[in-house]
Amino acid sequence: SPKLIIYDLDGVITDTAEFHFLAWKKLADELGIPIDRHFNEQLKGISRMDSLDRILEQASPPMKLSTEEKIELATRKNAYYLELIEEISPEHILPGIKALLQANKEAGIKTAIGSASKNAPRILEKLGLGDTFDHIVDAAEVKKGKPDPETFTAAADALGIAYTDCIGIEDAVAGVEAINRAGMFSVGVGDKAHLSHADYLVSATNELVFEEIIRRFQEKQN
Ligand code: G6P
Ligand code: MG
Repeated sequence: SPKLIIYDLDGVITDTAEFHFLAWKKLADELGIPIDRHFNEQLKGISRMDSLDRILEQASPPMKLSTEEKIELATRKNAYYLELIEEISPEHILPGIKALLQANKEAGIKTAIGSASKNAPRILEKLGLGDTFDHIVDAAEVKKGKPDPETFTAAADALGIAYTDCIGIEDAVAGVEAINRAGMFSVGVGDKAHLSHADYLVSATNELVFEEIIRRFQEKQN
């Protein structure tokens, strides 16, 4: 059996992936830079500043800004985002997640949040999940964001668990890559078109069934 399941937050526990997109879209519109949902797939799981860099590269010609200007834009995006997450409540936990967490805990398997978001603790509080996880990776302390494995290995290291005993759950292309590179079992939530590199893929969170995830994990170990 696995000893730790590491959950991504945005797009797995709750639908803040949509709010991140809407906030970036608003900023990009103001800058006259076209971004759409297809492009947004490559922003998922990517840190605030790296996301901004990718958006500025979409301008023609690419926009070169000073660090100060970039901080102003990233701060503006975050303000839009904070406005959108204001209304988040426990009802905004995605379908299937509560049952999954409960089964996870009943099985005696540890849980962690592996998110690139500096807003993660605030969102977990709003969802009523502030005390649920055994560990929350501090995004500010991770030196290399997803697709680097550090976010996931940091969670395992904090709890003293071998990477091969871990499962990671992700909705992002970069996130699934990070889990794979950590040597962990990756569960993808989303479209085959983006997440075919996941060890096990489901199309939505309501299909995340604990027993099945464990079965797939064990199947791969053998
Ligand atoms: C997560 C989301 C990204 C977001 C990043 C940073 O990884 O998937 O879309 O850019 O966190 O979030 P933050 O709340 O710190 O701006
Ligand atoms: Mg995500």
